[in-house]
Amino acid sequence: MVDGRAESRLEELTLDDLSPGEVVIRNRYAGVNFKDCLSLHGKAKIISGFPRVAGIELVGDVLRSDAAAFAPGQTVLVHGFQTGIAFDGGFSEIVRVPAAHVQALPAGLTALECAALGVPAFTAAMALERFQMEGLRPDSGPVAITGAGGAVALSALGILARTGHRAVAITRRMEQAEALRAAGASEVLDAGQILAAPPRALEKAQFAAAIDNVGGPLLAWLLRSTQDQGCVACVGNAASNSFDGSVLPFIMRAVKLVGIVANAPWEQRHRLWARLGGDWKPDFDRLTPQLGFIGLDELLSFSEAQLAGRNSGRALLRFEGA
Ligand SMILES: NC(=O)c1ccc[n+]([C@@H]2O[C@H](COP(=O)([O-])OP(=O)(O)OC[C@H]3O[C@@H](n4cnc5c(N)ncnc54)[C@H](OP(=O)(O)O)[C@@H]3O)[C@@H](O)[C@H]2O)c1
Repeated sequence: MVDGRAESRLEELTLDDLSPGEVVIRNRYAGVNFKDCLSLHGKAKIISGFPRVAGIELVGDVLRSDAAAFAPGQTVLVHGFQTGIAFDGGFSEIVRVPAAHVQALPAGLTALECAALGVPAFTAAMALERFQMEGLRPDSGPVAITGAGGAVALSALGILARTGHRAVAITRRMEQAEALRAAGASEVLDAGQILAAPPRALEKAQFAAAIDNVGGPLLAWLLRSTQDQGCVACVGNAASNSFDGSVLPFIMRAVKLVGIVANAPWEQRHRLWARLGGDWKPDFDRLTPQLGFIGLDELLSFSEAQLAGRNSGRALLRFEGA
């Protein structure tokens, strides 16, 4: 913090500068998430103690471990547990982490595949699991996804395609329509056109479920467009922290609005990562065209463009030796 404002810069640190932990990791990949971009530019109160190495997720190799569960050379994954928020995170070549936050690389995934999926795919998997608990099946109807060019949406498209669901991608940038179809969307809708139309008390009921990454009026529209007993998962706030809603979808169609928080308990982490490396594993030919790599020196300019809505796809910080 400088004069009450968060300021980000690239610095050389020693191991002793990092927050304490039993496991020291040589980083291979750190996902660059919307939340990281907000915290790097002080746009929201995310980081809970300064100075802090940001980066809410990473995949790397154990260099040293004082915990019996992890051995040098083992590839591991860290996300959640306030990584990059209350503990130093992934935007660093060497990371030191409490053993209680570390997970072995899930079966069925390479280090790159695991990093490419990361928090976005885990979040999408949480939403799909919740939809299934609410009764969603592939023949229930299509699943809508907003912010379709973003990392959560792209991984959701891959997972839904793999699991036999039809997905409708909703984007502000129709120039990405072909890429979204290649990523797994069966239909692409223009968010601008949706928002330009005069709102109705209830819209045509067209979605069995929806993953909303943006908030604001699109979330309200999704609720009004969801079928009887359908379920909308509120995942993100790329457009807004709030929305003006109508009660009609709830009292006329028994629509459910559920919240998703990716910092899941261990049982759910193990269960969903096993699926992401197994029967929910997206076809990586769909994901790789959307995967981009940057270096530490590009992080600040990249994250600024991300917040301005100029980027799309999934971005990974790639470290030497990855
Ligand atoms: N609940 C959780 O645990 C959890 C976990 C992960 C992420 N999230 C949140 O979920 C959201 C999506 O994450 P992400 O990783 O996919 O982010 P992302 O890669 O930055 O993508 C967000 C997408 O939203 C759309 N968008 C961006 N700015 C917008 C604006 N001003 N108005 C309308 N649409 C806008 C863009 O899609 P188009 O260009 O295609 O319209 C963009 O690609 C973020 O808010 C993130 O913080 C929450």
